[in-house]
Amino acid sequence: MKKYKKKKLSIKKISCLLIPLIIITVIIINLTSIITFCQSKITGYEYETISTFHELNVYDDIKKHDYSKTLEKIITSEYYNPKYVKDYLDILYQDRSNFLENINKLLSLGYNTSEINAIYDNLTDDSITLLTNNNYLKDINNVINLSYFHEDNLERYLKYSKENLNYDEIVTEVNASLDYKYYTNVTSINEPDNITVLVNKYHSLSSDYVPNDLETINPKYNRGYNNKMRKVARVAFEEMCEAALKDNITIYSGSAYRSYSYQKELYNRYVSTNGFDEAETFSARAGYSEHQTGLATDVMNKSLDYISKDDKEYDWLINNSYKYGFILRYPEGKERITGYMYEEWHFRYLGVDIATKVAKEGITYDEYVARK
Ligand code: DAL
Ligand code: ZN
Repeated sequence: MKKYKKKKLSIKKISCLLIPLIIITVIIINLTSIITFCQSKITGYEYETISTFHELNVYDDIKKHDYSKTLEKIITSEYYNPKYVKDYLDILYQDRSNFLENINKLLSLGYNTSEINAIYDNLTDDSITLLTNNNYLKDINNVINLSYFHEDNLERYLKYSKENLNYDEIVTEVNASLDYKYYTNVTSINEPDNITVLVNKYHSLSSDYVPNDLETINPKYNRGYNNKMRKVARVAFEEMCEAALKDNITIYSGSAYRSYSYQKELYNRYVSTNGFDEAETFSARAGYSEHQTGLATDVMNKSLDYISKDDKEYDWLINNSYKYGFILRYPEGKERITGYMYEEWHFRYLGVDIATKVAKEGITYDEYVARK
């Protein structure tokens, strides 16, 4: 009996020693797994992802940053590129088609992570594919943020970005069709009676368009052959002439409304006199002239010459015409935008609000419309 008790005690003693030993051995054998498990809990990454981090020797770096789903997804995929490991951390994951492949392409094109986040926040998958197949578009964040950025034009912005222009010019000019040659990509105007109608080398009036409210300008301010404008423009022009007179400035309308057939005759005459290339810089082809709208007039000075920038009449008009709803339509330095040489005499009625905005912003009406 005594002997048995002794034996039982020694088994107890042995097991007291053995069990912790076994536990310690098991812990030692599984130490890596246990550490990985703990690291997974701490960082939020999957267990397998942590193992991959260790295999790739990047865990120590990654643990300093917040959890990134993008990194989690890409590191175990075929798209992982160690060069971009820091970038993946800053790219917000989106469940979109070819996301992992595309972010790599965008990174290799030179887009930074904030640009990539903006691209994914704002653009469709088709647009992103377009970006991945083109060169880097400088300032893409700014481009996307412009209120007049049109995603439908993205391909054209990308092509046009080869020109040496800033992002605003690229968007504005493409919206204005300037990436096409003059007189191509032409839109037929369907609301020709609208006071704000844009007529230029990309927007044409039909040959039979005649405004139905043309009125003859008061002979006091009229040095053309019975010059006419649409009523609202005629009234505003006369008010402007009266206000100018009060400031001792005398101005006249030299040429206002012109029919399609008269414009055609005029253009053809200029082509035969000055040659095609020169005529194109100062005369619109029939259907493309603002004069057909009845909202434009060429202005003469007191000596009955078309005004030029050295005239006091010109200064007065630049300082005051917008108050009556008129703008200088073909300003200096904007020849490429308007498609015409600087015409110091050609004024266009737009109404006071828009004329004021265009004048204050120092832009052409073509740009104004392109930015709407
Ligand atoms: N001179 C202007 C551009 C016209 O012909 O309408
Ligand atoms: Zn004119």
